[in-house]
Amino acid sequence: MAKTRELCKEIRDKIVDLHKAGMGYRDICPILKDPAALKAVIDLFEEHVRKNHQHVELIIGLDARGFLFGPLLAQRLGVGFVLVRKKGKLPGSTVSVAYDLEYGKAEAEIQEDAVAPGQKVLLIDDLLATGGTLYAACELMKKQQAEVLGCMVVIELKELKGIDKLKSHSVFSLVQY
Ligand code: PRP
Ligand code: MG
Repeated sequence: MAKTRELCKEIRDKIVDLHKAGMGYRDICPILKDPAALKAVIDLFEEHVRKNHQHVELIIGLDARGFLFGPLLAQRLGVGFVLVRKKGKLPGSTVSVAYDLEYGKAEAEIQEDAVAPGQKVLLIDDLLATGGTLYAACELMKKQQAEVLGCMVVIELKELKGIDKLKSHSVFSLVQY
């Protein structure tokens, strides 16, 4: 697809010493800096949701880079946006799930009343690597008795096989490496 080919050019591939030495890092910042590229990303997500998940009621965005795409998509679809945050950031009663990252451990949290039992939700993040982050968010949705229609990411790093961890959920990605 022409749009996804264009996106590949925007995604910078860097080896950085960000979280651990010599870690590969797909950088989505150039997409955000280019209004046409960001629009193309939201267009592709919107097209996917309208075609496959017409009954979605909430978009759930993952801290932090899921927040960059989720609200824009939710606005397009006319549905609400809910935050899954890293531990200790949300006020009020919360529910949490611990998970492993490529470079350590973290805990995902959601406000207890953010999602109602039976609500149909779609999860969104920038990137699927080992799948730990999205898996934790799916576990949070399970605790809230929400119905996960699927997961969406801009980038999927295929060799890390994150999709295996999410096997009971459909994963839609715009670009695969
Ligand atoms: C990054 C990325 C995904 C996650 C993917 O988030 O944004 O959320 O890792 O990795 P996984 O599939 O192995 O779980 P990270 O928490 O590193 O940073 P962020 O707070 O900038 O989103
Ligand atoms: Mg993240």
